[in-house]
Amino acid sequence: MRIFVPIDSAARAVGADAVAEAIAREAEARDIDVQITRTGTRGMIWLEPLVEIDAGEGRVGFGPVAPEDVPALLDGRLDSLGPVDDLDWMRRQTRLTFARCGVIDPLDLDDYRAHGGLAGLRRALGMTREAIVQEVTDSGLRGRGGAGFPTGIKWNTVMQAEAAQKYIVCNADEGDSGTFADRMIMEGDPFTLIEGMAIAGIGVGATRGYVYLRSEYPDAIAAMTRAVGIARQNGVLGGSVLGSGHAFDMEIRTGAGAYVCGEETSLLNSLEGKRGVVRAKPPLPALEGFLGKPTVVNNVISLATVPVIFEKGAAHYAGFGLGRSRGTVTLQIAGNVARGGLFETAFGLTLGEVVNDIGGGTASGRPVKAVQVGGPLGAYMPVSKFDTPMGYEEFDGAGGLIGHAGLVVFDDTADMLRMARFAMEFCAIESCGKCTPCRIGAVRGVETIDRIAAGDPAAADLLTDLCETMKDGSLCALGGFTPFPVMSALTQFPDDFACRKEAAE
Ligand code: NAI
Ligand code: SF4
Repeated sequence: MRIFVPIDSAARAVGADAVAEAIAREAEARDIDVQITRTGTRGMIWLEPLVEIDAGEGRVGFGPVAPEDVPALLDGRLDSLGPVDDLDWMRRQTRLTFARCGVIDPLDLDDYRAHGGLAGLRRALGMTREAIVQEVTDSGLRGRGGAGFPTGIKWNTVMQAEAAQKYIVCNADEGDSGTFADRMIMEGDPFTLIEGMAIAGIGVGATRGYVYLRSEYPDAIAAMTRAVGIARQNGVLGGSVLGSGHAFDMEIRTGAGAYVCGEETSLLNSLEGKRGVVRAKPPLPALEGFLGKPTVVNNVISLATVPVIFEKGAAHYAGFGLGRSRGTVTLQIAGNVARGGLFETAFGLTLGEVVNDIGGGTASGRPVKAVQVGGPLGAYMPVSKFDTPMGYEEFDGAGGLIGHAGLVVFDDTADMLRMARFAMEFCAIESCGKCTPCRIGAVRGVETIDRIAAGDPAAADLLTDLCETMKDGSLCALGGFTPFPVMSALTQFPDDFACRKEAAE
């Protein structure tokens, strides 16, 4: 009998290790033959620790399982959820990037190969550089870190650049509130990121790669470090990738906890051992990036999606989606929500379908008031915008942004003035200090929101003016996008601002 227990840190946080130990102990005491495999998570966080048993007829799920449930689990007395692949949450997804996550042992290269791993890299090794970059362009893949810039165009710029050395840098400084897709794939299927980076390297002519990983992700750092070692030992990385004669190797570097180091130019500064301060663009990192050399800087999910594009073909990937948003989006559903987790689907579902249908509404059972989409710099979307389809242009048109596709749900007890103040305060704390609209503006923003709360009638106009200045005058997205949550709170939930005034009066 095979038993699968997640090793993902979200599952570990709610006791998956203790469950795995209890299973091992109980199996030994009963002298039964049990093979325990630690996997990534299936993404159904409300069911963690989710244990799966395969007694020869497919994987059946049980969850959440506590250590004291283990005797009943092994006796067959614990209620099952049924076959995991048949669960509504799994059936309704299009798992391309996350196809193996939660299924395989993350550090077993044979398991990875058995589930389609390395097929994309092998195909890419038989292609010219131009054909590799064209394949990515044809897939329609856009940067999943947040900006949605076409990945093929970025790779083409780096490929065309003349330089003796080029680099692939993976931005794994996942700092947005309510986001965890990068962490999950690195913990649950690290070889897919390695494979994607190798394909990127071969495509653009870069022989070295770096994963810039946030220090708050110790499990992902450990998984990635071990996976890079295993890939190197097995010839996936090194002087001759899979015996092709192409060189590509990579290493893991750890950040020190600054949100702004997720911005690509401060990330590069940090990677070079400098203070994480934003650099002005141009020059683009694609032309003058790490150590001044042409560099592809891509988010984890962008790079981890590359293998499946090469395995199944650009047309297959581009066949999913909506408008200019091709392929799948890895939604991270969090906050006050009944069913939170990772849900990969073709672009196109509406925000309301994601929150109510998939997420099951709020965990508190109260009405939804707002959903912040796209991290701390994303707009608060009211229920009246729930018909907005998940697509870059569609969200832009509704005054929001998809960003890294994190959704944080709030019920009707949320105080939007406090949330707007929090956004400004966050910006003030995390500002790198390079430009005035952000460095000074965020501090003034907190003060101005406090004036609104105190009932100052002129303060709302001042806040609007300040947000315009920050939006137009900031050097990077931190100062430039903070007005999104602030202004959306002010314009969509005016009552939360007005009542303070009335109370003061
Ligand atoms: P951007 O629009 O300036 O650039 C997008 C990307 O395209 C960059 O990598 C840029 O170097 C590249 N690029 C632009 N023109 C190019 C060309 N001609 N050739 C090659 N490459 C080119 O956006 P930025 O400032 O990099 O990112 C802002 C986004 O980051 C926001 O939308 C926000 O949602 C997101 N974000 C994500 C976070 C996360 O934790 N994942 C945290 C904070 C913000
Ligand atoms: Fe630095 Fe803020 Fe200016 Fe970005 S907007 S460069 S974080 S001061």
